[in-house]
Amino acid sequence: MDNVNTLSDLFKQLAESDTSQRLAINTVSFKTARWRLTKKSGIIVLPHQIEAILCVETNKIDLGEVDTTRSEMMEPFLLGAGEPYYKKAGIRLLIRAAKGDADVVIYMSWQPGEQIEQKAFQEAADSLDDYYFGYDQRYRRVYDAGAQLWESDQPNASLVNMLQKHFELAKGRIVDLGCGEGRDSLYLAQQGLEVTGVDISSVALGRARELAHQLRLQTVRFIESDVIYLRPIADSSYDVALNMGCLHMLTDTKQRSRHIQRVFEILKPGGYFLVDHCKSDWGKGFYSIPDYDAVAKDLIPGQVIPRRVRVDGQEVDIPLEVLPHLDQAPEVLIDEICSHGFDMVDTESSNTEAFGNSAVVLFRKPNL
Ligand SMILES: C[S@@+](CC[C@H](N)C(=O)[O-])C[C@H]1O[C@@H](n2cnc3c(N)ncnc32)[C@H](O)[C@@H]1O
Repeated sequence: MDNVNTLSDLFKQLAESDTSQRLAINTVSFKTARWRLTKKSGIIVLPHQIEAILCVETNKIDLGEVDTTRSEMMEPFLLGAGEPYYKKAGIRLLIRAAKGDADVVIYMSWQPGEQIEQKAFQEAADSLDDYYFGYDQRYRRVYDAGAQLWESDQPNASLVNMLQKHFELAKGRIVDLGCGEGRDSLYLAQQGLEVTGVDISSVALGRARELAHQLRLQTVRFIESDVIYLRPIADSSYDVALNMGCLHMLTDTKQRSRHIQRVFEILKPGGYFLVDHCKSDWGKGFYSIPDYDAVAKDLIPGQVIPRRVRVDGQEVDIPLEVLPHLDQAPEVLIDEICSHGFDMVDTESSNTEAFGNSAVVLFRKPNL
C-alpha cells in the first residue's frame, strides 16, 4: 500500500491545481487504492492494460469506458455505492465523482509504462443529466420536512392481491426493482422470502436498511444500482422480479427496452415479472396529489408542485419537483414487455394511493 500514498499525493496536488484535467499514473504501481474523489478534483484515468475491480463506497461516480480496440468512447454511466464494476483489459477507464465527494476503492493489477491523457470525458459525462439525483433530492426533502416516509409504510395493495391469486410468486429469490424505501421488499421478507431491493437512491435505501434493521429481517438486502443495467446481478439468478412504480419513471424508449431485456436475462427460465405501471393521468388518485385538477396542468417534469406527506400524523404539503414519468395504456405495455420474450399471465386494473390509475400485469419468462 506504500505506493498508494504517492498516488494520493499526486491526486491531492492535482486537486489543488488547475491542471487537474491531466493525470499521469504511469509512475505509480499499486494493487489496492482508496480515493476520495471530488468533482472538482478532476478525473482518474486507468490505462487499458489494467484489469481492475472498482467499488464505490460512498456517493456515486461517473464512469466512462473507452474501447481502445475501436478507439470509441462508450456511453458514460453512473456507478452507485456497493455496486462492483469489473474493468477488463482493453478498456481505458475514466472516473470522477458525479456529485459531492465519492470514496472509491480500486483493486487492480497492471503493467506500468503508459502515459495517460484525459480525453473528451468531461463533456460526455456532463451529458449525464440530473435524473439520478432527482430521486435522492426528492427523498431528502421529504425527510427534511419531518416525514418518516415518502411512500406508505404498507405494502402495495396490488402486490398483496397478486400474491393471493398467484401463490407461485411467493417462492425462491425475489428482486424488487426500484424498491424505494423498501415497503414491498420488507413485506416479502417478513413472509420469510429472500429479497433483494434495488434502487438508484442511496437516501431511500438508507431508510429501507434502517427499517430492515428495526424489523430484524435477515433475508433482505438492498443494493444501489441502476435498474436499466442491473450490472451487479447475474443472469438467471432470480425467480421473481417486481417493478412496482419504477418502470413508469423511465421515459426513454431505449432505456425501457434495456431494462426489460435485463429483467428477462436475470430471471430463471419460468421466472415471473410483476409490473405496476400508471396507465393514464399520472398523478390522479395519488395520496400525495389530493387535488389533481388543481395541478394537472403543471405535471410537467421540472415544475414544482405541492405534494402531500404525513408528518407526525398530520398532512403537510411540501413543494417538490415533478420527475419524468410516462403513462402507458395496458395493451401497449403488454406488447412492449412481451416483445422481449415474456408471456403475459394476468392483468388487472388497480387504483392504489401510490400509483393511482395503474395496470398491474404479471409476465412469465418461458420455460426452456
Ligand atoms: C415511485 S417510486 C416507487 C418505489 C417503490 N417501488 C414503492 O412502491 O414504494 C420509484 C422508485 O424508482 C427508483 N428509480 C427510478 N429510476 C431508477 C433507475 N434507473 N434505477 C433504479 N431505481 C430507479 C426511484 O429512486 C424511486 O425510489
